Amino acid sequence: MKTVALIVAAGKGERIGGTLPKQFTLLAGRPMLAWSYAALSANPAIDDVLVVIGDGQEPLLGSALPSARFVLGGATRRESVGRGLEGIGQADRILVHDAARPFLSAKVIDRLLAALDQADGAVPVLPVADTLVTADGVNVPRDGISRVQTPQAFRFDALRRAHVGWTGSEPTDDAQMVRTLGGSVTLVQGDAMLEKVTWPADFAAAEARIGWDTRSATGFDVHRLADGEELWLGGVRIPHTQGLSGHSDADVALHALTDAVLGTIAEGDIGLHFPPSDPKWRGAESGQFLRHAASLVEARGGQIIFVDVTIICEAPKIGPYREAIRNRIAELLRLSTDRVSVKATTTERLGFTGRGEGIATQAVATVRLPGVQP
Ligand code: CTP
Ligand code: MG
Repeated sequence: MKTVALIVAAGKGERIGGTLPKQFTLLAGRPMLAWSYAALSANPAIDDVLVVIGDGQEPLLGSALPSARFVLGGATRRESVGRGLEGIGQADRILVHDAARPFLSAKVIDRLLAALDQADGAVPVLPVADTLVTADGVNVPRDGISRVQTPQAFRFDALRRAHVGWTGSEPTDDAQMVRTLGGSVTLVQGDAMLEKVTWPADFAAAEARIGWDTRSATGFDVHRLADGEELWLGGVRIPHTQGLSGHSDADVALHALTDAVLGTIAEGDIGLHFPPSDPKWRGAESGQFLRHAASLVEARGGQIIFVDVTIICEAPKIGPYREAIRNRIAELLRLSTDRVSVKATTTERLGFTGRGEGIATQAVATVRLPGVQP
């Protein structure tokens, strides 16, 4: 049984305004369309996902979802779904989803597909909580009234039959088309997370709905001081009688910080991502390790919100370079400098750092991650 998902994302987002169509606007750190695309692609019951975009939106899709299959939509949502159906050709079941409803749970998909055993279509609905009135103020009874969401699931042939040669008035969803042609459509329980982003304030509401996790993690690193080496600390070259030895540029501060950032997403440590056994990293500039760790946080829709680094050594004095180090770390992490703290301490001549045999660094990174991972 072949099940496909169609995401309609060919709209202009006129009610929300702005220069970028809403489906490509960043929501909790990633383009809105990417949220439902990830949820549908990851679902084991779905074999294929096709996206319908507007003419000229190809570059936007290319940067949001470079590997997504797509077709071009039409002037109305109905036409866009129709183009998508042509693009799919043949399937047994189809889910049609609005890109403007980013947060799609597997539970809703399960409920919809299960309902297709008994019906031509299934739609998620929520009860209406507000009192309803007409423009004239006449009360409309809300008993038995529901709000309809997407995704909407259909037996593929039932939906195609409804779309081919449609002559009715312009519909706002697919279920009403299938029903008009006599098809059966079941209502299943919807999800408040599926609320559509339609008006400007809906962006903030969607981000609030998803919630955020705040996480902190630490990193620690030591490198040996040696003659004939350059000293790099926090991405800054510091003149000194000795430098740090190691496989890369041995920037102990950036290494500890990289581990802290990786720790916030439980992505192992720097050695896992950049094995010292790999000759590729000989003499490598450690800024790229930190940038890679930051990009992994960004790929999850997360943001680094604060970092704190403590460099432990007797010499050199870090004070004169503190601002340069803060600025460099801020640049690497794309943060403002006030979100980067750099401190230094000695160990009162005690231990290996006190004897000047090496330099140690402790780091803490704090990130904000979307409360839902697609
Ligand atoms: N859609 C589409 N093709 C159209 C119109 C809409 O694929 N010609 C898609 C939208 O991209 C959206 C979904 O249908 O994912 C629901 O439409 P809506 O929320 O109305 O989005 P827009 O049409 O973009 O917004 P507006 O009506 O404010 O312009
Ligand atoms: Mg519209």
